[in-house]
Amino acid sequence: MKHKTLKGLQDILPPDISIWQNIENNARQIFKNYGYREIRLPIIESTDIFIRSIGETSDIVEKEMYTFQDKGGRSVTLRPEGTASFVRAYVEHHLYNEPAPQKYYYMGPMFRYERPQAFRYRQFYQIGVEAMGILDPKLDAEVIAMLSAILDSIGLKELNFEITSIGCGKCRPGYTTALKEFLSTRKSKFCADCQRRYDLNPLRILDCKVPSCIDSRHGSPPVIEFLCDECQKHFEILKQNLDLLLVPYSVNPNLVRGLDYYTKTAFEVSSESLGSQKAVAAGGRYDNMVDEFGGPPTPGIGFAIGMERIIPLIKDSANKVEGPDLFICPMGNEAAEKGLLLTEQLRAKGLWVEINFDGTSLKSQMRKANRIGAKKVIVLGEDELKTKKVKIKDMNNREEIDIILDVNEFVKVIQG
Ligand code: HAM
Repeated sequence: MKHKTLKGLQDILPPDISIWQNIENNARQIFKNYGYREIRLPIIESTDIFIRSIGETSDIVEKEMYTFQDKGGRSVTLRPEGTASFVRAYVEHHLYNEPAPQKYYYMGPMFRYERPQAFRYRQFYQIGVEAMGILDPKLDAEVIAMLSAILDSIGLKELNFEITSIGCGKCRPGYTTALKEFLSTRKSKFCADCQRRYDLNPLRILDCKVPSCIDSRHGSPPVIEFLCDECQKHFEILKQNLDLLLVPYSVNPNLVRGLDYYTKTAFEVSSESLGSQKAVAAGGRYDNMVDEFGGPPTPGIGFAIGMERIIPLIKDSANKVEGPDLFICPMGNEAAEKGLLLTEQLRAKGLWVEINFDGTSLKSQMRKANRIGAKKVIVLGEDELKTKKVKIKDMNNREEIDIILDVNEFVKVIQG
């Protein structure tokens, strides 16, 4: 084959696309109920936006970004995630002036130059949300409850909701010291990246995927044991409210996020059936990013769902072929013209109607109607045009009924 998709990229074709659209539609409906509005952000941004927020020593920034120079010599990057772009837009358009919480969602492709494997792509799609301007842990609970509602609405079961707190600027220094002390005797076993990270940002060692680093950090103290009073209280109230909202969760003190910007609440939803790439959605609080981007100090929290990870979990609907409401088999030239007009009139009434174009035998037209999953079929020939009556066949139970050749009659019969 001459031309193929690049490694780690994929085409999304029908019938899968209808599963994607169903998920997106469900999510949009739920976002509406929770007061989230859509925001569309560029796919490409200035590189420094990501370095600044995701963190210089993170795997994403160090190894995974699609970064290049544009024709004007600027360093630009295909967005590896949505939060940094969102915060750039939030500050640029002074969205903090709207009443808090300001709640936004986005859907679209993200790009990470990772080693492709099952459920891990270099271009992947996220549905993400960001809620800004409120520090109250009840908002954290509401955001997690909304994530649970979305995953529930698309029929996902047996998911693990894990939460933790990773502290704030106040408790982080104490934790960093304790972590460095723990890791100091094992430093020689770290990969070259983690040797550097030990001095620059030791927390990132907890996220390294190199086996020797995983082994040597085993037993390190979790950040949750070092929380300041404020973070501790925030986490307690979050748990109480998740209980109140009946969101099932467990606390995982070892939960590590791959992005530097998080503070306090962090969470991840996973499915054991996905193997090593088991996170279907993840997020957390980022209370310093707006400030760092030049806006007024403003807390934020959000999450992103990975589309390619939830699609394989929706097995039942995957094989259903969605077909037209009506398939018209015209016999002869006059019927082909009258049929075309009828098709247009019925489409204008909101029905999905297809007409056969290639003038083949009735048998092969019926075969086509079957293949495309048509719900109902009519044959339009000379007799039908003369008598203005037609038999409409239900392709499910094979029953036929006579109806008048009239647009409103069709609508009545098809819509039941
Ligand atoms: P993240 O954990 O990097 O967070 O990504 C969120 C989700 O995107 C993951 O749980 C996973 O389902 C999916 N994902 C990530 N990388 C890939 C990949 N290479 N292939 C397929 N799916 C992938 C964020 O991106 C944050 N911006 C989420 C957030 C929003 N935090 C606060 N607000």
